[in-house]
Amino acid sequence: MSLALTQTKSYPAWSSRWVFIMAATGSAVGLGNIWKFPYITGENGGGAFVLVYLVCILLLGIPVMVAEVLLGRRGRQSPINTMRELTRAAGLHGFWNHLGWLGVVAGLLILSFYSVIAGWALAYIPEMGRGTFQGAGVAESQAFFDALLADKTRLVAWQSLFMLMTVGVVACGVVKGLGVAVRILMPLLFVLLLAMLIFAYRHGDFSAAAAFLFRPDFTALTGRSVLEALGHSFFTLSLGMGSIMAYGAYMPAGASIGKTVLMVAFLDTLVALMAGMAIFPIVFANPGLNPGAGPELLFVSLPVAFGAMPGGLLVGMVFFILVTIAAWSSAISLIEPGVAWLIEKRGFNRFTANISLGFIAWALGLGTVLSFNDWADFTLGGFTFFGAIDFLTSRIMLPLTGLLIAIFVGWVMPKMMVKSELSGDNSRFYPLWLWVLRYICPLAIGAVLLLGLYDTFTAAG
Ligand code: TRP
Repeated sequence: MSLALTQTKSYPAWSSRWVFIMAATGSAVGLGNIWKFPYITGENGGGAFVLVYLVCILLLGIPVMVAEVLLGRRGRQSPINTMRELTRAAGLHGFWNHLGWLGVVAGLLILSFYSVIAGWALAYIPEMGRGTFQGAGVAESQAFFDALLADKTRLVAWQSLFMLMTVGVVACGVVKGLGVAVRILMPLLFVLLLAMLIFAYRHGDFSAAAAFLFRPDFTALTGRSVLEALGHSFFTLSLGMGSIMAYGAYMPAGASIGKTVLMVAFLDTLVALMAGMAIFPIVFANPGLNPGAGPELLFVSLPVAFGAMPGGLLVGMVFFILVTIAAWSSAISLIEPGVAWLIEKRGFNRFTANISLGFIAWALGLGTVLSFNDWADFTLGGFTFFGAIDFLTSRIMLPLTGLLIAIFVGWVMPKMMVKSELSGDNSRFYPLWLWVLRYICPLAIGAVLLLGLYDTFTAAG
């Protein structure tokens, strides 16, 4: 599969919509599903949060994703230039150009902490292989994680390695190779998650986990957690910053966008729920583990399971390799829109474009590294540096760009353009989708954004 996104002149379409599905799934499935979804679910009290998240995916994420793919395919350039071309072609106000910008900035901010967390996963690979967790209990697992977080040199080393991997793939144009790897390894990740699920079913407290995840307790829900669920539904689908728009540029004309998007959203949600059902049974079976533990949840709970299962040394190692690869294919899609733009419009070559953006994200990432040690007590409005970047991107920028995309495609873009892109879709799909995009998406995203921000700042202040 060709993921090389930056030929400026002719954009060769991918051979089939399956290739798009693979690439978009590679972008969507990442740390958001395996690391972030379980921990924010734990922090927000479980079932009710999961339900809101699922409703957000279905009602807001999927329609906005259709809109973003459609924009990408229509424009067939980097997201910033796609927006510029479309607004010019339709004689629209230049304000809409800023959408592309917002995306590039959001991508770099997300990549900055993404590479630190992916670095944690990298650090666990040799540790697993060395048998550090064999027979380890909760206390040992926690102690290992705490020691890792306290060691800035190690954190920066692993963060840097992950960033080099990302920049390296994008710079050398071996994206094609990674594409093939992802095609083989993503299904493997799926199989391994299934195996973890079976282990959790046999050895963990499966029913407590199922009740926690699927029995909604609405008293646990606040405006703040609804906004977090909305923001995460955009984060996990890679929406609102141009990743999906950039991949949409390669989708063959005439292929059904609706069906394709449904497939990607389904796979992404499935992986998140599987990760939740692999982690929480273990959390509930071990009194020392806390579902609301935060970002450390995955890294402290699962090693306990690997330490106890037959062959856990190998399974644990393979698991963290696969998490790294899932993160890798997502990280590439975070940097690519910015790189594509620097090449198209600023005359950078692929190498310098990558190095420059990679360096900015890396330097910003140092703030996240420090958030877990030296700067842990240094908070701004209740957020650490990492918390603030996560908040700014997931809970403000992504919903905001999602909102703007819905308004742009639903109200501003000429209907002829929109309709012709969806000619490959079922005719009953178009009016329903358009209605949701025009009315439900702007109103719901706007309301959740306002209520959530109000709730966050009144509660934190
Ligand atoms: N969706 C990825 C994950 O869940 C992260 C990601 C990749 C992303 N590209 C994005 C998030 C664009 C927001 C926007 O891990």
